[in-house]
Amino acid sequence: MIPFFISYTYLVISSAVHIADAAADKSIFILAGQSNMSGRGGVVNLTWDGYIPPESSSNPSILRLTANLTWEVAAEPLHRDIDVAKVCGVGPGMAFANSLLKKDSRFGMMRRAKAAVRGEGVVRGFLWYQGESDTLNVEDAEAYKSRLHRFFVDVRTDLHLPLLPVIQVRSGRAFSSWPSGRGGILNGTWDNYIPPESYPNLAILRLSADLNRQLATEPLHRDIDTTKACGIGPGMAFASWLLRKDSTIGVVGLVPCAVGGTNISEWARGGELYKGMIRRAQAALEGGGTIRGLLWYQGESDTVSREDAESYKTRLQSFFLHVRADLLLPVLPIIQVALASGEGQYIETVREAQLGMDLVNLRTIDAKGLSLEPDGLHLTTPSQVSLGKMLADTFLQSQHLSITSNASRTPPDFVTNLFVRFLRLMHLLTLFICS
Ligand SMILES: *[C@@H]1O[C@H](CO)[C@@H](O)[C@H](O)[C@H]1NC(C)=O
Ligand SMILES: *[C@@H]1O[C@H](CO)[C@@H](O)[C@H](O)[C@H]1NC(C)=O
Ligand SMILES: *[C@@H]1O[C@H](CO)[C@@H](O)[C@H](O)[C@H]1NC(C)=O
Ligand SMILES: *[C@@H]1O[C@H](CO)[C@@H](O)[C@H](O)[C@H]1NC(C)=O
Ligand SMILES: *[C@@H]1O[C@H](CO)[C@@H](O)[C@H](O)[C@H]1NC(C)=O
Ligand SMILES: *[C@@H]1O[C@H](CO)[C@@H](O)[C@H](O)[C@H]1NC(C)=O
Repeated sequence: MIPFFISYTYLVISSAVHIADAAADKSIFILAGQSNMSGRGGVVNLTWDGYIPPESSSNPSILRLTANLTWEVAAEPLHRDIDVAKVCGVGPGMAFANSLLKKDSRFGMMRRAKAAVRGEGVVRGFLWYQGESDTLNVEDAEAYKSRLHRFFVDVRTDLHLPLLPVIQVRSGRAFSSWPSGRGGILNGTWDNYIPPESYPNLAILRLSADLNRQLATEPLHRDIDTTKACGIGPGMAFASWLLRKDSTIGVVGLVPCAVGGTNISEWARGGELYKGMIRRAQAALEGGGTIRGLLWYQGESDTVSREDAESYKTRLQSFFLHVRADLLLPVLPIIQVALASGEGQYIETVREAQLGMDLVNLRTIDAKGLSLEPDGLHLTTPSQVSLGKMLADTFLQSQHLSITSNASRTPPDFVTNLFVRFLRLMHLLTLFICS
């Protein structure tokens, strides 16, 4: 598998809806009384047994006012710093709040949506991915369509947005006809499992095969790497982690270009893969954006013959230099992944080439040690998620390093750093393209 990514951010700030911190609009309940309200559940011989029933578990939507009058995510024992003369255990408070949220999910959601736009901003869309729990019995499954319809109508009505765009994710098998990531592929079929780290996000777009920007969903390479079944790759987890670690990044555009089973010679300048990639990168820039990076994970097919493995370093280096030259980005950040597996016996030769490559603004991550699918060639879904996070962390670190390093003492690095600094100033006009 050869995921190849170019990353870029761009300006769609106005559409970013921050639902996250809407705690200003809380529904407040006062819990008062004596020990049974304070909670003694699980307290025996003056010691709490520490057991929290599922109904009383913590939930980011349930807060508690501490004795010091600050709000925090609530956890049992709820009265621990209030009813301090006795040992506190489980009381009714958490179960009450969880039950309230469960009985009417809009209780939390609508308040949060309204609070989110109180200062400024517009609710631009509603992303919905649910239904797994409605597949357990025939009655729920048959009622699902009308219940979901009513729910969408209610949401639009209550938000006073009758035409609010709703984007829903179909569950399970609906994706099975999609044909680069191989996480979750068994015997040529994807298991349809999408890890939470790879869920769609309004701030992550992808460039489709027909050059349209659309909401990114797994499998990211479904219309690019069409000859094989595609599953989970590192792209979505990369973008999600990036957004989480750097809130200034804006919108991430992913430009999928990876094609399974290809060798480095096929990626040489002048070839179809190369031309396609450059074309897609340029198309991704139309309408604004900056290419922020190239994510590269390839080489399995170059481990079969000794000649290929030994030529790998030179070929890869030319490839990187050509990409930078043709995109007019001489110090484009490149993050490559050193192989964890290969089709042939010269894996170590290729790994040495990758790990030994010395190019400005090139970082190498080692995939060795990440777990593989039973085919022994492709990373599992959890490994792909870890890889995505590693790529994002490395990207952020490399930016930091290249700006703060002691470059000013050496002229070539100095130029590099100015350039990177310039790229960073362009932040708001940056697109993340994943390919
Ligand atoms: C707590 O509730 C139980 C059950 O109603 C009752 O038997 C007990 O006396 C109560 N404890 C206190 C301290 O009120
Ligand atoms: C509580 O203490 C009593 C008397 O000291 C003892 O018999 C009992 O086993 C203790 N119970 C637990 C659960 O530790
Ligand atoms: C609350 O305030 C007290 C006194 O200033 C302090 O000792 C304690 O650590 C604080 N607790 C929390 C949870 O902030
Ligand atoms: C995959 O195919 C092999 C051989 O055809 C079979 O033994 C195995 O059970 C299959 N695995 C799954 C998960 O279908
Ligand atoms: C690369 O792959 C292509 C297509 O499979 C093949 O024709 C070619 O011989 C390979 N080139 C090298 C140098 O391995
Ligand atoms: C400066 O660069 C050298 C060589 O790259 C490195 O070993 C050193 O740690 C750097 N010093 C600082 C302060 O970054």
